[in-house]
Amino acid sequence: MANVVVVGAQWGDEGKGKIVDWLSERADVIARFQGGHNAGHTLVVDGTVYKLHALPSGVVRGGKLSVIGNGVVLDPWHLVNEIETVRAQGVSITPETLMVAENTPLILPIHGELDRAREEAASKGTKIGTTGRGIGPAYEDKVGRRSIRVADLADEATLIARVDRALQHHDPLRKGLGIEPVDRDALIAQLKEIAPKVLEYAAPVWKVLKEKRKSGKRILFEGAQGALLDIDFGTYPFVTSSNVIAGQAATGVGVGPGAVDYVLGIVKAYTTRVGEGPFPTELLDDDGERLGRRGHEFGVTTGRKRRCGWFDACLLRQTCATSGVNGIALTKLDVLDGFDVLKVCVGYDLDGKRLDYLPTAADQQARCTPVYEELPGWSESTEGARSWAELPANAIKYVRRVEELIDCPVAMVSTSPEREDTILVTDPFAD
Ligand code: GDP
Ligand code: IMO
Ligand code: MG
Repeated sequence: MANVVVVGAQWGDEGKGKIVDWLSERADVIARFQGGHNAGHTLVVDGTVYKLHALPSGVVRGGKLSVIGNGVVLDPWHLVNEIETVRAQGVSITPETLMVAENTPLILPIHGELDRAREEAASKGTKIGTTGRGIGPAYEDKVGRRSIRVADLADEATLIARVDRALQHHDPLRKGLGIEPVDRDALIAQLKEIAPKVLEYAAPVWKVLKEKRKSGKRILFEGAQGALLDIDFGTYPFVTSSNVIAGQAATGVGVGPGAVDYVLGIVKAYTTRVGEGPFPTELLDDDGERLGRRGHEFGVTTGRKRRCGWFDACLLRQTCATSGVNGIALTKLDVLDGFDVLKVCVGYDLDGKRLDYLPTAADQQARCTPVYEELPGWSESTEGARSWAELPANAIKYVRRVEELIDCPVAMVSTSPEREDTILVTDPFAD
């Protein structure tokens, strides 16, 4: 296969960063196609920990081209800081190894302020629990045709005109929320100061990718968040503001849909969620605490404690369908070590009726109770296993049952945060 898309198949934090880093050895280009620095991806390579937010997870390996596509919303100040942080860890980043699409919309400080002010003003039940990074307001400006995009930074007159257009919209909004009007001149000065540091990496990414594909190079499209946070197919309105599912890979960088040969869904062996919204298999008991403790379930971006629950095969069938997943990488299997019994949700009960999918209406979602199948746990350690032979029989049974229930093969299994603690079953890049 020439090109592989990696997407989160739950509510994010499935271990996409680790898997993208592992797979990037086989790719020439690693391209982010949506989201922004709301993402938090942790990579562990020989004990060194890298925490990435806006940069593609392939950046850590030398000799690859990392791309930030137009489907992303980019905070230029964050980008420059993140490049410095990663450089300080010994990673080389140059305009030859990192390209940012010229048509990428920017996240400005006013977007973060608006995001946080709205969350503060929200009444109970309407708070989303966003990362506060300005993602929603930045995407609103994109769709509202008032974004400042990377290319606009190159010309002062255009930049000023774009700022004025944005402020026409933002100042009345801010007034309604009791925030001071924007300091126009300060914002323009800030943008002029950051412009050359971002323009250094600006490129017509669609064109670069066309040339790469023509010369037989392989692309790894890196998704952020997870399918249940997708703006259309997620648990709306408790979602992020972009399309997260695999179809977005093409529009998010500027290739045709036929450029995608294989979709790898990243799936945690249990379920987590950060922020508000429905979560049918959530555990508010000792088992939930234990998953959180063993899995170190704290957000990389906000430090918030992640909510934990049993694996939900019902939701997985849904997300594998909406992303056209060809195979999954099952991560964090080791976190399940030592449970006597493991539960897997196979459907829902809604007012006495059995459902095999999560209904769209919020009131129905709230009334859905999970129907569980119980599987035997294992007492042996799977941590660090790198082959099937190292897994106890019941762990293999669990993986195989998950495969059956979600009707999708397991292509990879991950057994620790370390890059090489990975079992390859089917190579997504294999022809
Ligand atoms: P992402 O947002 O999907 O990239 O995932 P995060 O990095 O936010 O969260 C996944 C966390 O689990 C990170 O701290 C990883 O280092 C860690 N992790 C990834 N795979 C495994 C695994 O197989 N076992 C364990 N124990 N931890 C893992
Ligand atoms: P990665 O790529 C988990 C969640 C937030 C909130 C909702 C909306 O690390 O998997 P936003 O700031 O996007 O407007 O917040 O989406 N969220 C994530 N949850 N992992 C992520 O990214 C997330 N990015 C956003 O917690 O519920
Ligand atoms: Mg994460």
